[in-house]
Amino acid sequence: MKVTKAEIVISAVKPTQYPDDALPEIALAGRSNVGKSSLINTLIQRKKLARTSSTPGKTQTINFYRINDSFHFADVPGYGFARVPKSVKAQWGKMMETYFTSREPLKAVIQLIDIRHKPSEDDYNMYHFLKYHELPVIIVATKCDKVTKGHWQKHIKIIKEALLVDRNDPVILFSSQTSYGKEKLWNEIYSHLNH
Ligand code: GTP
Ligand code: MG
Repeated sequence: MKVTKAEIVISAVKPTQYPDDALPEIALAGRSNVGKSSLINTLIQRKKLARTSSTPGKTQTINFYRINDSFHFADVPGYGFARVPKSVKAQWGKMMETYFTSREPLKAVIQLIDIRHKPSEDDYNMYHFLKYHELPVIIVATKCDKVTKGHWQKHIKIIKEALLVDRNDPVILFSSQTSYGKEKLWNEIYSHLNH
């Protein structure tokens, strides 16, 4: 996929601010710091369009990016970040639940898992929440540059087993550092956009 145009549309905190041009949409999901914003930048080959940080909790609003005037990426705040006050966490949770359960143009969700770690309870709950709402999920095992190639399949197996991944759901190895898996992921995204 050749990205010729990528722009931020809005950083939204409530549904009335979501873009209403009915373009199809692909959302990200995953723990804080797993690499959601980095993945967007890697896919669209812009180093800094989506703001990233080595400190978890960087993304705090739902940020909509319009790509090639044909679809949106929705970058969302990560979950499972301990150093956030309970009240703020509840607010985020509500914002995310509203988004995932009522966003009509949403075609698929890319759920990121750090390949180095066994999925957490939050990861499990997120995956099954999406499945319950019948949203197509693309699992991405990211930061694969941090694990030697010979160990990739072992880690993929751990992810599949811990999440109880549906056998029809793709699990894609990815790295924002090396761009590994980029074409495969684009193809997967494409298949949902043209659905
Ligand atoms: P929040 O917005 O806080 O939820 O985080 P996020 O999921 O958007 O993570 P972000 O993209 O900001 O990346 C977090 C950190 O992980 C940054 O320091 C990135 O450089 C690093 N990172 C992201 N993807 C990769 C990857 O594939 N490989 C390596 N080695 N580092 C990565
Ligand atoms: Mg982010």
